[in-house]
Amino acid sequence: MLESKFTYVSLESDERIHGEYEAALIEVEREFGERHPIYIGGREVTARREFEARSPIDPGILLGTFQEGGEEAAREAIAAANEAFPDWSGRDWQDRVAIIRRAAGLIEDRRFWLAALITYEAGKTRYEALAEVGEAVDMLRYYCSIYEQSNGYVSSMHSPAPGEECRSVMRPYGAWAVISPFNFPIALAAGMITGALLTGNTVVFKPTSKTPLSGVILYRLFVEAGVAPGAINLVTGPGGPFGEVVVAHPDVAGIAFTGSRAVGEWLLRESTAEQPYHKPVVAELGSKNPVIVTASADIEKAVEGVVRAAYGFGGQKCSATSRVYVQSSVAERFIEALRDRVNRIEVGDPRRREVTYGPLIDDDARLTFQRAIEEAIRDGGRLVAGGEVLEGGLYGLGAYVLPTVITGLPHNHRLFGDELFVPILLLGTFESLEEGLRLANATDYGLTAGIFSEDPAEIRYFFDHIQSGVVYANRRGGATTGAWPGAQPFGGWKASGSTGRGAGGPYYLLSFVREQAQTLVTERY
Ligand code: ALA
Repeated sequence: MLESKFTYVSLESDERIHGEYEAALIEVEREFGERHPIYIGGREVTARREFEARSPIDPGILLGTFQEGGEEAAREAIAAANEAFPDWSGRDWQDRVAIIRRAAGLIEDRRFWLAALITYEAGKTRYEALAEVGEAVDMLRYYCSIYEQSNGYVSSMHSPAPGEECRSVMRPYGAWAVISPFNFPIALAAGMITGALLTGNTVVFKPTSKTPLSGVILYRLFVEAGVAPGAINLVTGPGGPFGEVVVAHPDVAGIAFTGSRAVGEWLLRESTAEQPYHKPVVAELGSKNPVIVTASADIEKAVEGVVRAAYGFGGQKCSATSRVYVQSSVAERFIEALRDRVNRIEVGDPRRREVTYGPLIDDDARLTFQRAIEEAIRDGGRLVAGGEVLEGGLYGLGAYVLPTVITGLPHNHRLFGDELFVPILLLGTFESLEEGLRLANATDYGLTAGIFSEDPAEIRYFFDHIQSGVVYANRRGGATTGAWPGAQPFGGWKASGSTGRGAGGPYYLLSFVREQAQTLVTERY
């Protein structure tokens, strides 16, 4: 089912890939420093105010200037998306599949350029950035395959009465607002946009102001692939006014959002308040992902898996491991091995090949990191590794902090429950697996979770009792991270998500359609 040639390329051993990525790092700089409009119905629109986007690698690098679209821009874009809806939804579904496949092909053709852009805009290493582009390609193609296998969601039904023809048709709702986060600026945005567009909805796309350039590039790419202007519209600017408009606007049929729990819950609440009827909200929200390491675990494998998942992209993935619970009999051995491995992480400029860990997205994230460390120390936590901000960053400004492990906090401490989205891993111990599971489940969240154990009965127990949408056993390459379209549908339970249907999974598209049962009497009496 997966068609990308790009999946699981071994970067370490492929010099050609490094060469092409490094050339793209230079080439992509030509895109920087431009002034970008908002796109409404294919028209370029400017706002009264603008904002700048700078690279987290080095805030001296100006990526571009963007429009601060407010309520007016949001309303105009919603009108354009509604105007385009009859034509876009009325096309043969196969046309939309062909367009999305073209978009996937364009992303694949430009994978090095897009990965270089992600490095500059989000601060990802080449390993993370190239994987993200590959994920976007596979995501789009996977959704196309699902839609094709489902015959565009048109099914013939049993006809109980003679002379009647019955069909089930899953129909689009209308214009959707798509609000995307910074941590997968291409893959998550492209996935949500595709969920809406492929099934016949139209889109008003609002990328986060932390990574607006990826948003502009993605918009242009969908249009180049053949999405009608107006079927996709782009509004940049602050989330507040945009959100206020879309929750209340009667012509916004649905909202797809990936981001913080606070904003997601606000969208869920407000989009039903004072509305004649509720609109669907596809929300992927926060997490506090646990890993359990039992006494039977291969400790080297567990340490590697936890380190990759806790510190890949600086702990800023929704799938990142942020809590690890270790059975007490092996805790000392695990902590020693973990400290040694964390201290060997190569922190630095993510453009460099040997670097596996770059800057945080912005100064707010640095502040969150510092405050959490202070709070942990104040409340009796002990630093196993890290805990520091690199003074002045690498270039005097960037938010570079050390990957951090903290132990010694009580299990009910706030930091064990609240999402931080920074590279702080909290470590606790347990006596029995039952206790480990109880601790792992003791948060509102339920996105990803992992176990390291060489005992199949323990793994079965974990799978049966963990409250989480995406679960892994013994994953050395990333204890809780790296879900891939078509392999691990990515969706959260509890406060982590609103639909219970994972992105990149067989049921994702169903969130963007509603069923119409059609009965046609064909016989004349
Ligand atoms: N696919 C991404 C991960 O699992 C979100 O890390």
